Amino acid sequence: MKRKLLSALLSAAMVAVLLTGCGSGSDTGSSAGSDTGADAGTTTEAPAPTDDADTGADTSSANAGGSKIGISMPTQSLERWNRDGEYLDEQFKAAGYETILTYSDNDAGRQVNDIQNMLAEGVNLLVIAAIDGEALNTVMNEAAEAGVQVIAYDRLIMNDAVSYYVSFDNYTVGKLQGQFVESTLDLANAGDTVYNIEFTAGDPADNNAGYFFNGAFDVLKPYIDAGTLNVVSGQTDFSSVATNQWNTDTALERAQNILSSYYADGTQLDVWLCSNDSTALGVAQAITSDYAGGNSVLITGQDGDEANLKNIVDGVQTMTVYKNVSNEAIVTLALAKAMMSGDAIGESLIPSFGIECAYDTESYETSEGNKCPSFLLVPSVITKDNLQDLVDTGLYTMGDDGYLKAN
Ligand code: BGC
Repeated sequence: MKRKLLSALLSAAMVAVLLTGCGSGSDTGSSAGSDTGADAGTTTEAPAPTDDADTGADTSSANAGGSKIGISMPTQSLERWNRDGEYLDEQFKAAGYETILTYSDNDAGRQVNDIQNMLAEGVNLLVIAAIDGEALNTVMNEAAEAGVQVIAYDRLIMNDAVSYYVSFDNYTVGKLQGQFVESTLDLANAGDTVYNIEFTAGDPADNNAGYFFNGAFDVLKPYIDAGTLNVVSGQTDFSSVATNQWNTDTALERAQNILSSYYADGTQLDVWLCSNDSTALGVAQAITSDYAGGNSVLITGQDGDEANLKNIVDGVQTMTVYKNVSNEAIVTLALAKAMMSGDAIGESLIPSFGIECAYDTESYETSEGNKCPSFLLVPSVITKDNLQDLVDTGLYTMGDDGYLKAN
């Protein structure tokens, strides 16, 4: 899945201005683009073990003062992290840094090991998307002792060694899903009509999962309370609807159980609120194979994974909340540069990103009372009607078969 990433970066960042509505566009993609002339330097096998085929676990040196960045991603089995790992690795290298990139196969113990190896290799800064936000205490303390700064990438780590958090506005992701259901079914004007709904949320070990679920649930709860929405299974609390490791098969099995227990008698199902695409894939599969009704069920998602975009074209999934992870990598690189240069960090950094983003010092805590300054990017809704917006980012191509492919 090697992409022509570098050549796509500038145009992608520029079109992202259109998609995410970012500011002046005066300096789009500058963080990634400004240093692309850097000597890519030598490429050697990284000593840190990596799990999967396309590890990208190379190091290269160039002109960023010999600084080395450790990039620790959770797994290659969920589509988006392949993109994140690749964008981060390519963008940091293009800016002249050495990198070590690892994927830890969704194994929290392995991620600790991978990060320890990075510390042993003398990384200057860590960018970590945690498998389990609570499981990195030992290695975070080791990073702090070694004076290595940490950016929590996309998922927050529950340890005060984290300096900054870069993510999307996770609560808004869920809110967009809930609002999509609300407006599509015109719930506010539903009168006596009752719609049946089920929920599937994410991995309890992932700090984001609760934000996504709460964002959606807070929008829909008044309609549940009023009886306009009916959760036929009665499963509405996060722990009942959560999906370990965001696993597609786990979501599929739970959906099959719910369909056979509550809908086999012909009860109509109208909505399945899924927090992301990997779980939506399992739910859609269960509905295709096990749902007795003839109506099309509104299914939500998140990420813009290829299989889900195909389902959207085919009318099997209704929407996904798209998060441009190339932009997330651009913001991370710009922040890392500022951290390593000792620049002032805050809202004033945002114009240099060329990407719409909020600086939030209130919403996230790494421990009780310890706020983590966060840069939060803006998610957007994708349906069958605006798939072209994804093509316009430069990160997807429309295939001859009418389906989108990630570049
Ligand atoms: C990410 C989502 C993703 C999920 C599963 C979350 O932390 O924010 O984009 O769908 O993990 O990979």
